[in-house]
Amino acid sequence: MRLDVVTIFPEYLEPLNVSLVGKARARGQLDVHVHDLRDWTYDRHSTVDDTPYGGGPGMVMKTEPWGEALDEVLAAGYESGACAPALVVPTPSGRPFTQELAVELSERPWLIFTPARYEGIDRRVVDEYATRIPVHEVSIGDYVLAGGEAAVLVMTEAVARLLPGVLGNAESHRDDSFAPGAMADLLEGPVYTKPPLWRGRGVPDVLLSGHHGRIARWRRDEAFRRTALHRPDLIERCDPSAFDRKDREILSILGWAPSPDGRFWRRPQAVEE
Ligand code: ADE
Repeated sequence: MRLDVVTIFPEYLEPLNVSLVGKARARGQLDVHVHDLRDWTYDRHSTVDDTPYGGGPGMVMKTEPWGEALDEVLAAGYESGACAPALVVPTPSGRPFTQELAVELSERPWLIFTPARYEGIDRRVVDEYATRIPVHEVSIGDYVLAGGEAAVLVMTEAVARLLPGVLGNAESHRDDSFAPGAMADLLEGPVYTKPPLWRGRGVPDVLLSGHHGRIARWRRDEAFRRTALHRPDLIERCDPSAFDRKDREILSILGWAPSPDGRFWRRPQAVEE
C-alpha cells in the first residue's frame, strides 16, 4: 500500500517510523511519503491560511497550496505505478472512523491523507478532488484536536495492522473488539499472562484449566460484562438471534432482558457492577 500525507508539520508524522508501521515500511509492505504543504507556497512567509469569507474566528487553509500539492502527489504516485487513490480528509465533522472503515481503507492500494490545521481547508479543495477520486471525510471521535495529524497516525495504525503479513500471527486480529466474527459487537474482556500470582493477585482458575470450551465461554461472559459496563449501546444494537442460551443467561445476570421486538435492553433497576 502507498500512503501520502500532506501536512504543515511533517515532523508530527515521525511515529510512522516506529513499531508496527515502521516495520511494515522497512519490509516494503507500506510505502509512506510525507510532504510539507509549505513546499507549495511561494511567498516570503510560506502562507497556507487566510481569513474566512463571511467572517468568524480562526483561519481557513487556502486552496492554492493544497491544489498544487495534491496535483503533484497524484502525478508522482501514478508515475511510480500506484493506482486507484482515495483521499482521506481528517475532520471532526467527518463520518466516524470505525473498524469497518479501517477494513475498507486497508483494501485500497493508495491512500492520501490531508490533515488540516486551523478551521479546516477551503471546501472547494474537497469538492474538486471528489470529482476525480473517492474522498472520505473522517472523524476519529467526538472531540476537537488542534489538527488532523494525530488522526492520521490513528487511522494509519488501524489500517496498517490489517494489511496482509503485517501482524505476526494471521489470527491476531480475529478476536479484536469490533472485528467481524465470533465476538462481533462485543468488547474484549481482560487478559492475563505469567506469573500466576502477582502481589497476591491470582489469575482466574478457568484460564489455567486447559479446558478450551470453558475458557471460550468465560471469555464471552467477560466480553458481555465489559460491553454492558462500557458500551451498553452495542448490546442494544445486537441482533438477538446471535445470542445462545448462555449469552441470555449472562445478560439476565447483568440486568438485561429481551424487549417485545427481541432486542435486549437494560432493566432500569439493574445495578452498576
Ligand atoms: N481534526 C480535529 N479534530 C479531529 C477529529 N476528531 N477527527 C479527525 N480529525 C480531526
